[in-house]
Amino acid sequence: MCGIVGYVGGKPASALLVEGLHRLEYRGYDSAGIAVRNGEGINIRKRAGRVGELVKLLDEEPIQGSLGIGHTRWATHGETTDTNSHPHVGGNGEVVLVHNGVIENYASLRESLQVRGYVFKTTTDSEVVAHLIAHHLDECIRMGDDPQDRATIQRTLEMSLKQLKGTYGLAIIFRDHPELLVAIRAGSPLVIGIGHNEYFLASDSSPLVGHTDEVVYLDDHEWAFLSPEGMEIIHRDSGQRAPSIQTLDHVAGNIDLGDFDTYMLKEIFEQPQSLENCLRGRIDDDAASAKFGGLNVDVQDLRHVDRIVLTACGTSWHAALVGEYLIEEFARIPVEVEYASEFRYRNPPMTDRTMTFAITQSGETADTLAALRESRRKGHATMAICNVVGSTIAREADGGIYLHAGPEIGVASTKAFTSQVTSMMLLALYLGRMRHLSFPAGQRLIKQMRQLPQLVEKTLACNEAVAKIATKYFDRNNFLYLGRLYNFPVALEGALKLKEISYIHAEGYPAAEMKHGPIALVDEVTPSVFVVPHGTMYPKVMSNLEEVKARKGPVIAIACEGDKEISAAADDVIFVPDVEEYLQPIVTSIPLQLLAYHIAILRGCNVDRPRNLAKSVTVE
Ligand code: F6R
Repeated sequence: MCGIVGYVGGKPASALLVEGLHRLEYRGYDSAGIAVRNGEGINIRKRAGRVGELVKLLDEEPIQGSLGIGHTRWATHGETTDTNSHPHVGGNGEVVLVHNGVIENYASLRESLQVRGYVFKTTTDSEVVAHLIAHHLDECIRMGDDPQDRATIQRTLEMSLKQLKGTYGLAIIFRDHPELLVAIRAGSPLVIGIGHNEYFLASDSSPLVGHTDEVVYLDDHEWAFLSPEGMEIIHRDSGQRAPSIQTLDHVAGNIDLGDFDTYMLKEIFEQPQSLENCLRGRIDDDAASAKFGGLNVDVQDLRHVDRIVLTACGTSWHAALVGEYLIEEFARIPVEVEYASEFRYRNPPMTDRTMTFAITQSGETADTLAALRESRRKGHATMAICNVVGSTIAREADGGIYLHAGPEIGVASTKAFTSQVTSMMLLALYLGRMRHLSFPAGQRLIKQMRQLPQLVEKTLACNEAVAKIATKYFDRNNFLYLGRLYNFPVALEGALKLKEISYIHAEGYPAAEMKHGPIALVDEVTPSVFVVPHGTMYPKVMSNLEEVKARKGPVIAIACEGDKEISAAADDVIFVPDVEEYLQPIVTSIPLQLLAYHIAILRGCNVDRPRNLAKSVTVE
């Protein structure tokens, strides 16, 4: 949430910052701004709206300089106005900063700073940090410290940060330090890119691609002092630290739109490739099992795991629900699926041999990170199933499985979901083969999983049919999504996709639950989307479908090719390949992604940047 960029070196900072903000815009698009320092001082340009608005302003009023910071905002405190946009100024312009996170005690700090004469121009929590630093800087100078000495800045920051409660990633520049960029991390990710006599800063690695492949991920409570002369990293408690330099080879994914109009559609169509990447190197034919390079757990310990907790948020939580069914079916290990936001504050009984998996695309979701930390604190082996390599969750977990889905830019998760489900299929196979699953059963699963990329390719052929169906229903206000067993999480995910990008109210339910309440919503205009592929539940779901039809409710069915009954029963049918039940979530979720997409486009919504949402939710 919120994107931060920074640059110090010899190049014009403005263009670099704006380029970085474009790449980070998916983290928040309420407003954007930059501050650039040159010989005359620090100049700020900021505007409510997309980065494009900032670009227009910069065209009219360009700013020069080779030290700067920038921000794209997802509002937490304060409306989305030009004034509330970052960067924020402290004191009389001695300090300028951008902030990601939430300052919990901002109200009391603001009050005490106002008493001291600081005038607040915004209603944000971030401006409090800027004035607080300016206040302590002023205090240090009045005590005789040299304003141009870097030690003064460090002392100022020590005094200021002691007073802050909450989470923050900060990029700060100072009026009296023409070549100093300070980065501070406490709960909000920051990564430094190392160039030749220059440093880049960003809240994730995407803005660094193409500029450098050497990076340093800051840990919590680390501060970086960056200047063309070098980098110094200090930990709040333990002092100076040697930076751990890593290679940025992982984000070399394609972040251009190519022939597509939106990232969401591009990412939906990338799924054959993302699943191919997820499966690559992970099938062990000799053992009829899966293999993972990064689990970092002793096989004996894995054999003794007696309970698994899958914790996640949003779409990743839906993937976890599919994971529960898969692991219980194939490995016979009891699984609990926990909303990370609940799990972090609950105290569920967990055996010594419980293993936790945090499932996350971004690897930065605040609640999922807190859930992972809570599980580790209690001594449980804690793994990540994660897409973004080098993200906080990936680094803090004991081990895990990378999705290898490539960058997911569209705010609505699509390819990450199918890769999460595929990873959990592999995990279920792996855990199953060390327990009850026979060699031939393992071989059978492998054979079917190998076909996934082609099956998805085939499924995508439904796009035109889905687009046509969307024209019939895009003006409706409510939708119901219904499915059973493996397709119950798919119903939840279909409903979530629709509501987040089209703003239509949608509910997902296990189809049989319909009679216990949601059937009251059925009327002649509310469409019910039934996920009803062949399988054990087919006759049951078909009777639920008939119950809706009997009440004149319009029905859209996701059904298997070759299903002769369905066309007579449903108003509209989207056909998908007929696959084993446990593979169905992969093929049935795709038409639902497309349905949400086409409906949202017909309603004139921005599918890549839905209102109020941000790609990674780094605040609680
Ligand atoms: C929905 C969506 C969100 C995320 C959720 C968790 O399309 O993208 O619901 O799934 O915010 O994010 P990650 O997976 O990054 O932890």
